[in-house]
Amino acid sequence: MKKYYLGENFTLYNGDCIEVLKLLTANSVDMIFADPPYFLSGGSFTCHAGRRVSVKKGDWDLGGGAQKNLEFHIEWLKACKKVLKPNGAIWVSGTYHSIYQCGVALEINGYHFLNDIAWFKPNAAPNLSCRFFTASHETLIWARKEKKSKHIFNYDLMKNGKWKEDVLKKDGSQMRSVWSIGAPKPSEKTFGKHPTQKPLDLLRRIVLASTNEGDIVLDPFAGSSTTGIASVINDRVFIGIDKEKRYLDLSIKRFENLRLNGYKVNTIENSKINYNSVQPFLLESKVKYVSKNKNMQGNNSKKGKNNG
Ligand SMILES: C[S@@+](CC[C@H](N)C(=O)[O-])C[C@H]1O[C@@H](n2cnc3c(N)ncnc32)[C@H](O)[C@@H]1O
Repeated sequence: MKKYYLGENFTLYNGDCIEVLKLLTANSVDMIFADPPYFLSGGSFTCHAGRRVSVKKGDWDLGGGAQKNLEFHIEWLKACKKVLKPNGAIWVSGTYHSIYQCGVALEINGYHFLNDIAWFKPNAAPNLSCRFFTASHETLIWARKEKKSKHIFNYDLMKNGKWKEDVLKKDGSQMRSVWSIGAPKPSEKTFGKHPTQKPLDLLRRIVLASTNEGDIVLDPFAGSSTTGIASVINDRVFIGIDKEKRYLDLSIKRFENLRLNGYKVNTIENSKINYNSVQPFLLESKVKYVSKNKNMQGNNSKKGKNNG
């Protein structure tokens, strides 16, 4: 299988994730984070920077009606299950437009639910019609491969770590299932915009909660590769798939900037590379884990417990 990009602990594939996943090794991935299309690009409007704008995210978000959308969710979740290790786990994020179908599709594929997280967005866009509540959360389902799987949960880090971005999390108290995390910061969009880019703080928490150093994290709908950035910063290995090259190119810029700045989150002002010279390249080689040996939160030498 040809790679679109191969960096240290950071690999990208271009194509339909169902097809790409079929070609990847079975039982090889520790954790999957998936942010599938919400299928809400159908002529409605939202508010952006005080202006009324179309909700059309792209052709990939158009969908084909309830039945076809459900079939799609069943298929990609089946393909994901094949590549997950026996003790692997998956996260699926979505709004009310998609998350219920994803839940049904997870159940049909025999995953075992662990939690659903309400990700509260304190700076959500206002509702323009004034006929509904303002949508200000997304749901994340966390499930393990099978009922008998022993999933990873870094309980102590969740309880005692520093989660300054979250006004709901009290120092030293158990991490609850409602997380308050704002939209991506402007610095996270320095290299271009993805219409549904997730905040780095959200992915950082997910990666730290449910994987250990050196684990392989896969995102079948990588977009701008927020999952990949959160993974490599925390010494995990990332594999991303997206069918749009422009988003993979944005991912490469984000990753190259991170690498050249010593894996510290940085902005274009500090950037050391000429982005016109960054070209995607095709390479063939095995994914291998290269430790950065950095002293950052989450580089816990002690492995997280497997929970049965
Ligand atoms: C909701 S966005 C993910 C955004 C991502 N979480 C981020 O932080 O940038 C969904 C992505 O899936 C991609 N996509 C849609 N259908 C796909 C498919 N069948 N296979 C692979 N990628 C797909 C789109 O191009 C889009 O970038």
